[in-house]
Amino acid sequence: MSEKAKLVLGENTYELPVITGTENEKAIDITKLRAQSGYVTLDSGYMNTGACTSAITFLDGELGILKYRGYSIEEIAEKSSFLETAYLVNYGKLPTEAEMKAFSVKVASYDDVPEGIKTQIKAFPKDAHPMAVLSSNIVSLSAFYHSLCAQDLTPAQKDEAFAQLIGQIKVVSAYAYRHSQGKEFVKSDKSLDYCSDFIHMMTGDKNVSRDVAKALDVLLILHVDHEQNCSTSSVRMVGSSKANIFATISAGVDALWGPLHGGANQAVLEMLAEIKDSGKDYKQFLAEVKDKNSSSRLMGFGHRVYKNFDPRAKIIKVACDTVLNTLGVQDPLLDIAKGLEEVALKDEYFVSRKLYPNVDFYSGIIYRALGIPTNMFTVMFAIGRLPGWMAQWKEMVEQDGFKICRPRQIYTGDVTNKYKDIKSR
Ligand code: ACO
Repeated sequence: MSEKAKLVLGENTYELPVITGTENEKAIDITKLRAQSGYVTLDSGYMNTGACTSAITFLDGELGILKYRGYSIEEIAEKSSFLETAYLVNYGKLPTEAEMKAFSVKVASYDDVPEGIKTQIKAFPKDAHPMAVLSSNIVSLSAFYHSLCAQDLTPAQKDEAFAQLIGQIKVVSAYAYRHSQGKEFVKSDKSLDYCSDFIHMMTGDKNVSRDVAKALDVLLILHVDHEQNCSTSSVRMVGSSKANIFATISAGVDALWGPLHGGANQAVLEMLAEIKDSGKDYKQFLAEVKDKNSSSRLMGFGHRVYKNFDPRAKIIKVACDTVLNTLGVQDPLLDIAKGLEEVALKDEYFVSRKLYPNVDFYSGIIYRALGIPTNMFTVMFAIGRLPGWMAQWKEMVEQDGFKICRPRQIYTGDVTNKYKDIKSR
């Protein structure tokens, strides 16, 4: 017999079905609760709410497990490439050689953006944050690709949009960077792999070292998807209104920008630099972030779901050492990061709250070593996360019972007010 939960409300008892996922996760299905009882559930910050069922990514925050389509993140990071991982999350299987080739060619065919987009990028102030340039130019693509703005895309159009956005996010990001430096755009070179071409388009140098390209590729893989995080939920929310795919993805970019989410990678570097410049010792700095009267936090630490360790952070920490050794880079900020981590992991405040380094704690140090400037870090995250956003959107619009996302609330405002004329208020 299938499991049921019982909810007693006054005289009435309601039986609620229990849903079990393939990794044995359990959820109480409340979809009919309001219709049956008149009650809704309240869960600020969605701490206990499963917003959907999904077959893309599994993570276990207690055990520190992350899998894309059933493959462990450790194995994917070691053996796969960013584009292959993108294919995997979107299509649900690893591609054959022929499929991989066709997909790579299709992505590479989107090696430029319309002239209007280039003009728009150039119209931004040089000191504009590249996330602003990225978000507004992604949504602007909708003005140029009308057929992909239809309410319901055909499977072929979804495939096209997937490859197009992976190709063009690289172009817009690199152009945004070049513009901020007051430099001409560098045209993409199809003979280069995705990451080498991106670095080439940023620096103008085609001789990108294998180690650098590989390190960037691994970083992008680690960011590809992370189930129902803030930006992915934003993508699902906006996409559920049947907003076009460009508007939908742009919403993900915006949500990612915040320092409590993807913006943390920039914030970590700024925090480490501040510690270095101020000469504070780690204990003094940690005392500040622990102080409830201060709004500062140890950026790159803590996670809504991971309460043991973030498996991506483990991979990144090792990659960080490898990249810095390979490139012969000595970065005092890495020493500060390691020192902070060591002290924090022994500190009762962090231990009792299960606060561990997250994916953003070390990623910025690698980006820095690769020559990527601090304000581009969150853009790098967006490039990595794009395939996950697209896959989650596709899964949502194709799921049986698709509905616009529209949460409810409990109203706590005034009940009856009498309107007074403005002069007598
Ligand atoms: N530094 C200091 N204290 C922290 C930190 C931190 N980084 N993170 C959490 N805490 C404390 C909180 O003050 C709170 O303490 P309290 O119980 O005494 O009030 C407790 O730990 C729980 O924290 P919440 O904010 O309730 O946890 P939540 O799950 O809502 O937040 C979050 C998770 C936003 C990631 C948080 O840990 C944080 O702000 N971290 C720093 C920013 C960061 O690195 N973000 C990137 C996350 S990974 C990503 O999005 C890709």
